[in-house]
Amino acid sequence: MIWKFITFFVRKLDPEIAHKITIKFMKFGLHPRLNKIGIPINIGNLIFKNFIGVAAGFDKNAEVINKIHFLNFGFTEVGTITPMPQYGNPKPRIFRLEKDKAIINRNGFNNLGMLEAKKKLEHYRKKFPVGSDFLVGINIGPNKDSKDRFSDYKVLAKNLSKFADYISINVSSPNTPNLRKFQNKENLEKVINFVKDGIETSKTFNKKLPIFLKIAPDIDKHTLNSIIETAHSQKICGLIISNTTLDREINLKSKKSDELGGLSGKPLFKKSTDILSQANIIIKNNNYKLFLIAAGGVSDSKTAYVKILCGAHLVQLYSSLTFEGPLVANQIIIGILKFMKRDNIKNIFDIVGVIDNPKEAMNIAINGFKNQKN
Ligand SMILES: Cc1cc2nc3c(=O)[nH]c(=O)nc-3n(C[C@H](O)[C@H](O)[C@H](O)COP(=O)(O)O)c2cc1C
Repeated sequence: MIWKFITFFVRKLDPEIAHKITIKFMKFGLHPRLNKIGIPINIGNLIFKNFIGVAAGFDKNAEVINKIHFLNFGFTEVGTITPMPQYGNPKPRIFRLEKDKAIINRNGFNNLGMLEAKKKLEHYRKKFPVGSDFLVGINIGPNKDSKDRFSDYKVLAKNLSKFADYISINVSSPNTPNLRKFQNKENLEKVINFVKDGIETSKTFNKKLPIFLKIAPDIDKHTLNSIIETAHSQKICGLIISNTTLDREINLKSKKSDELGGLSGKPLFKKSTDILSQANIIIKNNNYKLFLIAAGGVSDSKTAYVKILCGAHLVQLYSSLTFEGPLVANQIIIGILKFMKRDNIKNIFDIVGVIDNPKEAMNIAINGFKNQKN
């Protein structure tokens, strides 16, 4: 109750100030301390105590990883981190769409840069070394004014891999001009190879550090196919689907819906789940070994269950932390455990990607496998 009240109060503030205050509060230890529950899942060599994680953008500078432990997430993705510190776009640049339970942001990779993040990560890893039971992904992207964006990815991988359980390559933020062009086959191959070179020359013990590619939801089938082909041929671990959308076709009620930037939260759910589902079908049909992490509009156990049924091994969220508060991961886990009991599922892995149609998946989430309505 108290956290619902605090969330409501914090939401009265300007979004960027609210975020700053939240991070400050967390640093001071003002956050819930939940009894540990989770739904474990293994992905290759990565062992997740819980399948729910915090998406990139919440902890851009790796400041509160150890605090996120307390909220019953199984992992977090810090960043996006760029080589040089970057102010980002002029403020205001984050807009809350209350009526739509959505956010539009055009931050433009505001972050303190690689060296500052390195210090924070070094400090964190002293207490929680790589391989601890809370996993940390490091999301990397180029500086806006970089002369060589490919080399930016390499230098980031070289400097930060040592601290990562996985690397997430951001080629999908809509707020860095032309970044999404890196999703084209030729660019993508080059980016992945630069990241691999960076890992190879880094001080990590794990030269086979898992790489995920974070993609946009605003892509057609052809581009999705090409991304998956590249991910498969480059032997990366998987895809994160998805980043925010530039699409405004979605019916939005809030006045701020015309603001420029990437839309996240509830209205992104359908679009990101459709792409996730298509990716799952392509991967299954080709028998590829690629794992999918879902992000986009996850706010409760139903939306999380649908993502799993449509192909997600792991689920990330950001916007619902704003609207539902810091207990959201816990509420999702409790709900999913109930669904698993209802549907007689022993291991969450068994239902990953078994449904090819998001609508049908939602029907199952609501009614269960047995009582599924046609
Ligand atoms: C304010 C804000 C900042 C974000 N910053 C980043 C970022 O730096 N890098 C990134 O890959 N994604 C970023 N994202 C996108 C999220 O990681 C996530 O992919 C997207 O918001 C969809 O999830 P959601 O609907 O649960 O928020 C940001 C999202 C928001 C709302």
